[in-house]
Amino acid sequence: MALPRKKQFLYEVSGSTPDDLWLDCGTTDSATRMIQNMFGKKIFETIKPIELIIRMLKLACGKESIILDFMAGSGTTGHAVLKLNKEDSGNRKFILCTNNENNNGNGYKIAEDVCYPRIKKVIEGYKNLKGEKVEGLGGNLKYFKTDFVNYDEPTDRNKIKLTEEATEMLCIKEGTFEKVLGPENVKVFKNCDHYTAIIFDQLAIPSFKEAIKGIKGKFSVYVFSLGDETFDDEFEDTKSKIRLSPIPEAILRVYRRIFK
Ligand SMILES: C[S@@+](CC[C@H](N)C(=O)[O-])C[C@H]1O[C@@H](n2cnc3c(N)ncnc32)[C@H](O)[C@@H]1O
Repeated sequence: MALPRKKQFLYEVSGSTPDDLWLDCGTTDSATRMIQNMFGKKIFETIKPIELIIRMLKLACGKESIILDFMAGSGTTGHAVLKLNKEDSGNRKFILCTNNENNNGNGYKIAEDVCYPRIKKVIEGYKNLKGEKVEGLGGNLKYFKTDFVNYDEPTDRNKIKLTEEATEMLCIKEGTFEKVLGPENVKVFKNCDHYTAIIFDQLAIPSFKEAIKGIKGKFSVYVFSLGDETFDDEFEDTKSKIRLSPIPEAILRVYRRIFK
């Protein structure tokens, strides 16, 4: 015979819980109309409403979160992040990855023709079907195409390509995209907050230090080296303005194979 027990509901033990039924989060129809308004024509009809994603973001993320949608399709997640940031002055970032499939039979490639232009319109503003101006939500956007580097073939072309790709990845990590002139073998980028310097040849360290002498502002510095050197000694006299960062191991691993 079962002993008497006190029945406890989830909300009693874990605070607020999401409602079971989300009836106020838009519909596929409303989302389709919104996209139609944005592009001036019907693009496709299986789009999620941004209100739904905003509800999920509010439940799962903080104002500084980075939100990844690895199968981003039409970019609803990015749109929702921008809208929520505008609403609550949040500083969320998003990373959208998507293939460029065109299996809706409508002639549109999902990444090039829908996801990227949609997010650009949301940021910059656009004219709706009635010709009225819809204000942009602000924000910024970088669009990258990804590809495999054939590291079984250590050709000069591959080395140059890999170096360039690694530079972009470090810029994404730092959020610095504005190119600044740097000494030979050093690439420098900045944002409103700091600089990123990527030193491709350790022999360029002295000329880099000389070049930044008169510059105010902090630098994140990456020195490419296939060994385990940290270069702390070389930057001892400039450590107040320099944060020396190791190249991420994932990038180095590919480098070690191609530069061997
Ligand atoms: C259901 S939709 C995306 C919905 C979107 N995440 C949202 O919440 O609104 C799925 C998308 O994933 C993309 N996709 C499918 N296979 C993929 C792959 N291997 N890598 C990246 N994207 C892929 C397709 O372009 C498709 O549009």
